[in-house]
Amino acid sequence: MIDFHSHILPGIDDGSRNEKMTLAMLGEEKRQGAETVVATPHFYADRDSIDRFLERRAKALAITNDAIKTANESRASKDGHFFPRIMTGAEVYYFPGIADAEKLPELCISGTDVILIEMPFVQWTDKVAKDIEAIIRDRHLTVVLAHIERYTGYQKDKGPWRKVMDLPLTTQINGGSFLKEMRKRRFCTKWIKERESCIIGSDCHNLESRAPNLERARAVIEKKAGRVVLERIDRNAAELLGK
Ligand SMILES: [Fe+2]
Repeated sequence: MIDFHSHILPGIDDGSRNEKMTLAMLGEEKRQGAETVVATPHFYADRDSIDRFLERRAKALAITNDAIKTANESRASKDGHFFPRIMTGAEVYYFPGIADAEKLPELCISGTDVILIEMPFVQWTDKVAKDIEAIIRDRHLTVVLAHIERYTGYQKDKGPWRKVMDLPLTTQINGGSFLKEMRKRRFCTKWIKERESCIIGSDCHNLESRAPNLERARAVIEKKAGRVVLERIDRNAAELLGK
């Protein structure tokens, strides 16, 4: 199992506050069956440069790796498999000119050409659709749109939405959206059944209000959409990460 979306690195965004919390979240991910967790801290171009973000992320990762090492050494078994493997990425909030940002590929998930993009929480425009298209066709990156279920309420004019959805991209749904109100769950279940290129992620931020939740989400998916759909989701995620 892969958790494709998490705010698990310490002290870098509104996710984990420190390495202790990070280890607890990683331990919980492992307990739920995650072998790989993609760490996707928020990147906001209006607050940060890509270089500075990468520096901060490298520091947070180094702190995490040290904490994992210490935790593993203090246990009886030293096989280092108490925690899932971490891959680094970013949750890149859409910004005008995103497709032209020279260092955009550096925000891809480590060792891949996959970029997780958080779309605007307003009515999308044709310009937004064009930018996403340019990231795919001109920059040759593989786009995953984060928590697709969270934008629908803003899209009164469905034109730009359709243009984006017609692009060759992957959509990601949050685990929590399968656990909330019936209406959202129905939308998400229909979405994952109908769209081939779909994956899930916990978007976990902590251990309370936004905790790792893929175990429960997967149980709902299997029950409501079937095992074949769940297997497709897993296959999609593995393929994106080149596994
Ligand atoms: Fe997120």
